[in-house]
Amino acid sequence: MSNIGSYDERYRDFDWSRAEEDLSWDDGGMINIGYLCSDRNCELGLADKTALIWESFSGQEKRYSFNDIRIYSNSFAKFFRDLGIEPGERICIFLDKIPALYIGLLGVLKMGAIVQPLFSAFGEDALFTRLEDAGTEAILTSRKHIGKVRRIRDKLKALEHVVVVDGEGMELSDGEVAFDFEKAEAVERFDVYQVSPETPSLLHYTSGTTGKPKGALHVHHSILGQYMTTKWVLDLLAEDIYWCTADPGWVTGTSYGIIGPWSLGITQLVLEMGFIPARWYQAIEKYKVTVFYTAPTAIRMLMKEGEELVKKYDLSSLRHTASVGEPLNAEAVIWSEEVMGLPFHDNYWQTETGCIVIANYPGMKIRPGSMGKPFPGITATVVDPTEYKPIEKVGSVGLIALKPGWPSMFRTYWNNQETYDSKFKNGWYICGDRASIDEDGYFWFVGRDDDVINTAGHLVGPFEIESALLEHPAIAESAAIGKPDPVNMEVVKAFIALKPGHEPSDELKLSIINFVRKKLSPLAMPQEIEFRESLPKTRSGKIMRRLLKAQETGEEIGDISTLEDD
Ligand code: WT7
Repeated sequence: MSNIGSYDERYRDFDWSRAEEDLSWDDGGMINIGYLCSDRNCELGLADKTALIWESFSGQEKRYSFNDIRIYSNSFAKFFRDLGIEPGERICIFLDKIPALYIGLLGVLKMGAIVQPLFSAFGEDALFTRLEDAGTEAILTSRKHIGKVRRIRDKLKALEHVVVVDGEGMELSDGEVAFDFEKAEAVERFDVYQVSPETPSLLHYTSGTTGKPKGALHVHHSILGQYMTTKWVLDLLAEDIYWCTADPGWVTGTSYGIIGPWSLGITQLVLEMGFIPARWYQAIEKYKVTVFYTAPTAIRMLMKEGEELVKKYDLSSLRHTASVGEPLNAEAVIWSEEVMGLPFHDNYWQTETGCIVIANYPGMKIRPGSMGKPFPGITATVVDPTEYKPIEKVGSVGLIALKPGWPSMFRTYWNNQETYDSKFKNGWYICGDRASIDEDGYFWFVGRDDDVINTAGHLVGPFEIESALLEHPAIAESAAIGKPDPVNMEVVKAFIALKPGHEPSDELKLSIINFVRKKLSPLAMPQEIEFRESLPKTRSGKIMRRLLKAQETGEEIGDISTLEDD
């Protein structure tokens, strides 16, 4: 029997007050996410239960109980408060997947500041754009990544503190301070900052088609959504060993790699390393993982490794598997059912939605290739792209639209209320994805409604890549598109027109690829480069990415009357 029981019944009679009761909000319980994920579990008798099993890149294992998490997050909270950081100010966490990331994040929430988690593979340009936009006051980082922070520090007026988790014994300059939570004095009691449900909690940057990345601002109320979906979609039970492979630099890694599981008092596994098929299987076997949440690209990579590898490991501990971030093709669902004995349950959501909004539920029949049905408490439909009215005809493709008002929905884009407002049409929040709904209410993903590139489940903004490319001395014009890829869904392809005096060459390609990797990240780095004499533009001079993409994929090009040089 799954936690959700009957989907239809739950959907019919759902009320978010159910989550409020479970988290004791109705009894005047504390609302702070940092408290709910640590102290509260101790109060409920789970102080000695393992909260975190962490494995370092070299295979070293460490365990932290909920009491450890409680005390160490207090230490972080006190440290930040003593630094003079005020509630509402932004503290960025720029770390690999090490314990300080997970515990530090709760510490920031406990003292009332806003956490801005950023992917540690970000290069200095990607980091700068986001720190500048958020007016970030402090950054928590490590020796490995401090070089990037140092190179942009002078340009960041608001950034006062650089905290280095392994900085002891290092030469530190002004404003840099070492803080090792395991060596610092344990803070047994901390006066957790009293938040209201609407107090900001997390700021997650996400990419759009145009302009800079946008900071989706979440509030402490969001935990109701993360709690409820973790319980009913990921189906976590007290004795589970749960593993979410996402990095908390992205929203899956915070909503389901920290808040969801720990609000339920569940033991979770974190591996510092990225994707290595044999070691992933090994981890499931070694730690007896029961619930596994990952992304389609990883599943396709496992498929590529073949059945032989799966058979070498004992994966019998697994009882539920789920996937998110990009379309999960039917073959992958069928494959996993065949070789692992469990089908992956696809679900759908976004940085903006804060929690899963459409899902395949345990106990409900999966339609391979479908994202499933709306979560209880979520009203979802598809609307037409002109009047934004729900499309009645079964199977017609429209824009995925959600009725605003669920707890974990973002509250604004940081300093960008206008773009936030533009996401709402005719009383619906428009996700920016196209889908159809079948006769039984299952949603089928069709594609994005913009030029944002989805590579291995991570969104990358073409504008950010193009801007980085234009900083390269040889480049005059650039366009970035997502090129369909059998494993990664899409990879970045760049079209480039060179400045006079520069000739296309393989060497130049490599130099460009490395340039973007260093400035932005390995995800944003073009996998393919095509040199052109010039790029197609509209009369107003805008480069036509869609035309390039259509040419690349051999699709219908559509109306090209606005092209000036075809
Ligand atoms: C975009 C959101 C998913 C949360 C973490 C990423 C795409 C997400 C699916 C799915 C097809 C999916 C959409 C969405 N996406 N889940 N199950 N099937 N596409 O959050 O970085 O904000 O990305 O990822 O295009 O809008 P994000």
